[in-house]
Amino acid sequence: MGGKEAVTVSFLAAKKARAEKISMLTAYDYPTARLLDDAGVELLLVGDSLGMVVLGYEDTLAVTMEDMLHHTRAVSRGAERALVVADMPFMSYQCSRREAVANAGRLLKEGRAHAVKLEGGRAIRDEVRAIVEAGIPVMGHLGLTPQAVNVLGGYKVQGRSRREVETLLEDALELERAGIFALVLECVPREVGALLTEKLAVPTIGIGAGPETDGQVLVTQDMLGFTGGRTPSFVRQYASLAEEIKGAVREYIDELRQGSFPAEAESFALEEDAQWLEELRD
Ligand code: KIV
Repeated sequence: MGGKEAVTVSFLAAKKARAEKISMLTAYDYPTARLLDDAGVELLLVGDSLGMVVLGYEDTLAVTMEDMLHHTRAVSRGAERALVVADMPFMSYQCSRREAVANAGRLLKEGRAHAVKLEGGRAIRDEVRAIVEAGIPVMGHLGLTPQAVNVLGGYKVQGRSRREVETLLEDALELERAGIFALVLECVPREVGALLTEKLAVPTIGIGAGPETDGQVLVTQDMLGFTGGRTPSFVRQYASLAEEIKGAVREYIDELRQGSFPAEAESFALEEDAQWLEELRD
């Protein structure tokens, strides 16, 4: 572990008790995982957002267990201190408890994740409990749950009305009773983020859920400006990597066309006194 104390589920619970904010970012590959871990992020989420962010799929529904395993393995190799959470992809946990436990187990055994994340409320309570009882930490995910985009009718803010908030609260409490160690809350009004954070003993991690949640998560490519497209309004962009990359690539193409790249220092030399070269030229 290189001397750094690893982030654990109990470390996160202690942070909530001390009212210290928890940091979480997505990672889908080894170099990014290393950089984020080195910078001190506490939770690395191998989100199924990888389908859109790095695989070019239209939504998260197409992401497979094999996609998740491949990317989780890479992230786990790069994480020294952070707790690695792997998303369970669509249809890997909804059909039966047995399948849910087996697939969650693969993400730990083959992917080397420390925990899994599932989307949904009371409908998946039994699956969550079975996975936890198998010794696998589970993170819940409520609010805007992208795997349910076809039921929700789009990527919309959730929990605006009293009825919706009551449902969210009941779902959150059911998940807590089933054993989750933390809960992601996506795209809900600030007051809902605050209410669930107050009502739950486990930490809440918000994304578009206001500042009162116990922690925050963002898609790394969004916060680094590495998407080339539009990002949701709740994203704060801390860098403009897409512009930096395009600028660097244009410079490379220009220098290569002008002949200034590669220069002498970027080329290899033959052995000394290579007179035989002239012979080869003749
Ligand atoms: O897949 C993902 O990246 C997520 C976060 C947006 C929470 O679930």
